Amino acid sequence: MTKGPEEIIRDEIRALKAYHVPPAAGMVKLDAMENPYRLPEDLRANIARIAAEAELNRYPDAAAAALSDELRRAFGVPAGMDVLLGNGSDELIQVLALAVARPGAVILGVEPSFVMFRMIATFAGARYVGVDLREDFQIDAGRMAAAIERHQPALVFLAWPNNPTGNLFDEDLVAHVIETAPGLVVLDEAYHAFAGKSFIDRLPRYRNLLVMRTVSKLGLAGLRLGALAGAPAWLEQLAKVRLPYNINVLTQLIAAEVLRHDRVLTEQARAIKLERGRLHEALALLPGVKPYPSEANFILFRTSNAERVFGAMKERGVLVKCLHGSHRLLDNCLRVTVGTPGENSEFLTALERSLAA
Ligand SMILES: Cc1ncc(COP(=O)(O)O)c(C=O)c1O
Repeated sequence: MTKGPEEIIRDEIRALKAYHVPPAAGMVKLDAMENPYRLPEDLRANIARIAAEAELNRYPDAAAAALSDELRRAFGVPAGMDVLLGNGSDELIQVLALAVARPGAVILGVEPSFVMFRMIATFAGARYVGVDLREDFQIDAGRMAAAIERHQPALVFLAWPNNPTGNLFDEDLVAHVIETAPGLVVLDEAYHAFAGKSFIDRLPRYRNLLVMRTVSKLGLAGLRLGALAGAPAWLEQLAKVRLPYNINVLTQLIAAEVLRHDRVLTEQARAIKLERGRLHEALALLPGVKPYPSEANFILFRTSNAERVFGAMKERGVLVKCLHGSHRLLDNCLRVTVGTPGENSEFLTALERSLAA
């Protein structure tokens, strides 16, 4: 008798729910923190030329050297520090978790935060400890210190700004976590373009700090490219876990070309930040809606009945993310990505009608 999934697949994997990506064809898609703007016509024409000439019959440059140089410049990686590239920052989270997952190793994060930290720790066979944030979504200093002391985590993940709450944790507290953690601290700065603050300059000061970035929220989610910056001594070890050729030929060429024109992306981020302000003000005016401050390209807001409002909005063709039920602090919370002015107006109209229905 052959065995089935119940006997073969690890218990903790069978207990997981797969990362859900809802169908969004034809909808106003404001659920995944994508940049709503396309690239300008001339840059798209350059990309078409570059793609046409790409040597797709060859494996990509395993070191992605040209792209790494562009990323180092665009992200302001300090001299003496290196970058490790991933097929999205999701893959870098996986590389990190696999590399530290000795038997009994703990990976620590805050809750609520980016769900892939916990999921990937589980894939890797590490124990994940989530430290609850305060009601205002800031790090609870006492709880964090106690958890670090008790669990001695091999790795701490902090998203800065945090997803799904949108806020930046207090800078001194983040520094304190880095100073007191016994192992690695990875600051996930996926939303850096909308916050303007970074720990990247402090890499030379903190031996145990790595800073992770992605181009996904900048406008290149389709390319799947993330970067981990830090001391070569760490990255050399982590690079062993990365699969060879993980950054494909087209991603290497196209991302490098767009980064050479990264003012386009900075301008788009500026427009998104302006719209974020307008959206926040409009949300605050709606009865029964409480938007939270955001330093990212999305806004978390609370309503009286998130599941009902989410369903009603979906029927009206607007897709946001419903976070109700995922954590006590997110009861009746929805998260909306900042879209174009037109999309945001459609979202506000759909929300107003769904609240009244
Ligand atoms: C905090 C955070 N880190 C990483 C990611 C994933 O980024 P990527 O598209 O580079 O895998 C996300 C995506 O939502 C995120 O919110």
